[in-house]
Amino acid sequence: MANSDQEILGRGSVDDVDAIMDIATFNDDVDTIEHIVENNADTIFTWNYDKGERPRLDRLYEKAKVSQWNASTDLDWSIEVDPTTALNLQAELLLDPDMMEDPSSPLAKWGDKEWEEFGVESLRWRLSQFLHGEQGALLCTAKIVETVPWIDAKYYAATQVVDEARHVEVFERYLGEKLDGGYPINPHLRLLLDDIINDSRWDMTYLGMQIMVEGLALAAFGYMHQFTDEPLLKKLLRYVMSDEARHVAFGVLSLQEVYADMTLAEIRERQEFAFEAAVRMRDRFLQQEVWERMGVDSRDMVQRLLQAPEEAQVFQKMLFSKIVPNCRKLGLLDAGEGWLRDRFTEIGVIEFEHLEDTGSEFTDYDIGTDDFDAASAQKAAEAAEIAMSNPAS
Ligand SMILES: [Fe+2]
Ligand SMILES: [Fe+2]
Repeated sequence: MANSDQEILGRGSVDDVDAIMDIATFNDDVDTIEHIVENNADTIFTWNYDKGERPRLDRLYEKAKVSQWNASTDLDWSIEVDPTTALNLQAELLLDPDMMEDPSSPLAKWGDKEWEEFGVESLRWRLSQFLHGEQGALLCTAKIVETVPWIDAKYYAATQVVDEARHVEVFERYLGEKLDGGYPINPHLRLLLDDIINDSRWDMTYLGMQIMVEGLALAAFGYMHQFTDEPLLKKLLRYVMSDEARHVAFGVLSLQEVYADMTLAEIRERQEFAFEAAVRMRDRFLQQEVWERMGVDSRDMVQRLLQAPEEAQVFQKMLFSKIVPNCRKLGLLDAGEGWLRDRFTEIGVIEFEHLEDTGSEFTDYDIGTDDFDAASAQKAAEAAEIAMSNPAS
């Protein structure tokens, strides 16, 4: 039997503003340095050292070894960055234009100065959440090294650990040196990362991190890469994406094998976890902390954002453009009478299901390719077109 939203999300309905704000105001990590999470998983040795028994994972491992880059020397940190123009993400892409013009909206009174400040804060906030998510990936993938039973996966995951260390390094440095520091972790993101680390089943780490969190990151990085002309950020995002596409492929290739042997009841638990992760990530992008920093009533803004028409939520929807095709490839959308399909329809992201999945997409994002910009632009444009189309038509 399916669990209720209360059991999956801890609230009776997806758009319950009070419950969302309760989580949002609960951030006890602001003044502490360490955040300790119980890790319930078994650590597994394997005595089967046959390299290449899983050829697709082996290929990914060989690819990772020759795709390393050095954050200290491959990026030009001497570039001066103007935070007000670093990312040209128009407010119209992030917010519903009607909401900005509505005289009762706090944003109606904003002038150029406020919009500029919002742009900078929003960038700092977004990159900060990526920084914390990268640390989550670092810890989750270190966990996978311990918990996955296959030697090819342990080898590959070890390369991802190095990749993630580099990602934490570059986002922290960009925030610290170019944007004057960042924001603490968003409570919705923290709740999700805690859940992933907490889970005892090793495949859940993959589903939560490689499929959901990294799938979202890959889409978001691609979108930001399109909208920035700031050379340091653009190159940084390109390099991170070349790693990230491999990471998502690692999740897809590993889980395909695991899910093939699961019962329907086990698959249902994975569907529910994917849905929970999707809602947590959507909640996180309501960016409560930025509204507070701007002196705006964040509850009011969250309510307005949740009520905005679907076609006005282009960026929020785009974030799911990798997740949904990958869930489809894994058979998660349609198993058990399409439970996850129904839920993704409800939160307005099912339209992405037929986009290319990320099982082999990493070759398009290869660090050495000359076509990166064109490939990335084309994928972002395809996803944007779907995100902007009216689902009702
Ligand atoms: Fe990463
Ligand atoms: Fe990653």
